[in-house]
Amino acid sequence: MGQSLLTSVGYVRRDGSMFCEGVALDTIAGRVGTPVYVYSASVIRERYQRLTSALAELPVHVHYSVKANSSLAILALLKSLGAGVDIVSGGELHRALEVGFTGHDIVFSGVGKTVTELERAVRAGIRSINVESEGELHVLNDVAGRLGAVVAVALRVNPDIAVDTPHKYTRTAERGMKFGIPHDTILAVARTMAAMPNVKLTGLAAHLGSQIGDAAPYALAAHELVRLKREIESDGLAKITTLDLGGGLGVTYHDEPAPDLAAYAAALAIAANEPGVEILVEPGRFLVADAGVLLTRVLYRKHSGGKDIVITDAGMNDFIRPSLYESRHDIEAVSSDDAPSLRANIVGPVCESGDFFANDRLITDVAPGQLLALRTTGAYGYSMASNYNSRPRPAEVLVDGDRFAVITKRESNADLTRRETSAPEWMEG
Ligand SMILES: Cc1ncc(COP(=O)(O)O)c(C=O)c1O
Repeated sequence: MGQSLLTSVGYVRRDGSMFCEGVALDTIAGRVGTPVYVYSASVIRERYQRLTSALAELPVHVHYSVKANSSLAILALLKSLGAGVDIVSGGELHRALEVGFTGHDIVFSGVGKTVTELERAVRAGIRSINVESEGELHVLNDVAGRLGAVVAVALRVNPDIAVDTPHKYTRTAERGMKFGIPHDTILAVARTMAAMPNVKLTGLAAHLGSQIGDAAPYALAAHELVRLKREIESDGLAKITTLDLGGGLGVTYHDEPAPDLAAYAAALAIAANEPGVEILVEPGRFLVADAGVLLTRVLYRKHSGGKDIVITDAGMNDFIRPSLYESRHDIEAVSSDDAPSLRANIVGPVCESGDFFANDRLITDVAPGQLLALRTTGAYGYSMASNYNSRPRPAEVLVDGDRFAVITKRESNADLTRRETSAPEWMEG
């Protein structure tokens, strides 16, 4: 036995079996059942440390993007490390407040905030509302006026920057996309804003997309935010004190190079060099993706049209990234490190041809009953899970050293129908 069970970070094999830190994945599956998401606390700590060390010379604050993994225990862990949060809904605000984030820890992005969501955000006194349209600005000014508040606003800029991400659905910063306010209209919006009594322009924000492996687009965005900041200030419209460069840092799912954090820091420095400015970043995936695996048990094997098909007890409702983004996740047998010898489609039980985790993938030969681990599923895994096919959502487990805890209970069939009725109480229309 090599290293101490307590000191290993993340996932290791011992005598052929996969462990998360000091806990055998087999043990978790046996105790909690499958499918189950497992997260390594040490990986989240290590990623947070890695990012903040790379940015240590800059006036940067990390606002974790809650959408990547919004489980309360994960939020609490990131809070204990010093992170704030970036939220995109009233539900995420509720989660953030529930784990003790205070107003100053929270920034609120999103193209379609409702009046109710804005009211709650204003009441919570959050650090910044990242406004994405002129319409939203008017609604927010009214809401803040009714509540007797003056709220800090960052304008989310659509900088018209194309990023090279693995799927077009994870790009957000090109002209014509729904996100942000076109960069060439920001000055006009700032002018409109200057006449609004209940909103105060304090920041500019840009989020380019997700799973970005190159620092160059961040440098472009930083230059653009600085240019806009200077124009706004030289017109005397506002004093800009925060520049928010969004999230998007990529991770290694299979063989992608890890992001160059020194180059990323150099790009952020372009914005940080502006006097009197604090930089915000909103990483999600980078902090939590590697921490997670989805454990699933093989239910059946079959052959069709010359193909081997492995059917698992997890489906696209539990983990939708391969179906939605055609994302590639490594898949490993939990209790065997035999060399891969089976070429198979690994699919779920959901009644959709799009319900697959991998096609034509070479994996270790696994029999029904054996466990598979889908790697790098800590981000946009459970948080995108649904009840499609009336499947209860899986459990979530956090591992820390040689201990583990269920942080989200598995849904029951009763949970599925709790809010429904088969006997409608009709109302007059
Ligand atoms: C506004 C905003 N900030 C941050 C993020 C987090 O992105 P990532 O998980 O790629 O870091 C997103 C994700 O889409 C986002 O929309």
